[in-house]
Amino acid sequence: MRAKPRYDAVAITLHWVIALGIFFELALGWVMASFTLPLATKFAMFQLHKSVGITVLLAVVLRLLWRATHKPPAYDADFTGLERQAAAGAHHLLYLAMLLIPLAGWAVVSVSPYNIPTVLYGLIPWPDLPWLPGLPNKAAIEPWVEDVHAYLAYGTLGVVALHVLAALRHHFFKQDNILRRMAPWF
Ligand code: HEM
Ligand code: HEM
Repeated sequence: MRAKPRYDAVAITLHWVIALGIFFELALGWVMASFTLPLATKFAMFQLHKSVGITVLLAVVLRLLWRATHKPPAYDADFTGLERQAAAGAHHLLYLAMLLIPLAGWAVVSVSPYNIPTVLYGLIPWPDLPWLPGLPNKAAIEPWVEDVHAYLAYGTLGVVALHVLAALRHHFFKQDNILRRMAPWF
């Protein structure tokens, strides 16, 4: 019998590394923005959040390049047009969110009037985005960019929830191989 088609190892690894990174970033971002913490702790959390966030951004760029050059496995013939369109729509939204959330975060630090340098994992100096640091009136712009970053991040949770529900529906109700073809343990 022919093995059921699966995503390749690189696509699966990138999917789960990025998903874990995003969940970690959501939790860390929420904690550091919501609670009063000692200044040194807060500073360390911001630096870690920036480091992991930029790592996620680089992994997303790699993933998009990989996706553009490696076709995903075909769906079973009994998949309806609606199912294919819903999956494609949700996946496009998720790719857009994966790019825009860290880019917006990078924009936050680039318009910050405090000009705090970003040093990834305390080792690699990371530049600001071009053009933004030179804007006049950065103190007025920064809260807007912070809101864009926060709304994108929390809003994406809704799409991720639908995505996870769809995967679980396939696994438990339709009992097809959709979850298995992205699962790392098969
Ligand atoms: C996967 C990527 C990321 C996710 C999911 C994420 C998520 C979040 C969340 C949920 C918050 C808290 C928002 C709030 O409650 O106000 C936050 C805050 C923040 N993030 Fe990110 N972030 C990501 C990447 C980045 C990157 C790459 C940077 C910078 C290089 C960054 C910089 C910041 C900063 C400076 C804040 C604090 C803003 C404030 O005080 O409201 N983030 N992030
Ligand atoms: C932040 C979290 C997540 C993001 C951003 C995300 C994003 C994506 C994207 C963009 C794809 C499409 C891959 C492609 O064909 O190019 C995908 C596929 C998939 N994801 Fe996720 N995912 C996340 C979390 C999860 C979780 C928690 C599960 C498990 C329940 C999951 C299960 C799947 C499955 C089964 C597929 C294959 C779908 C198919 O073959 O049509 N994902 N994911």
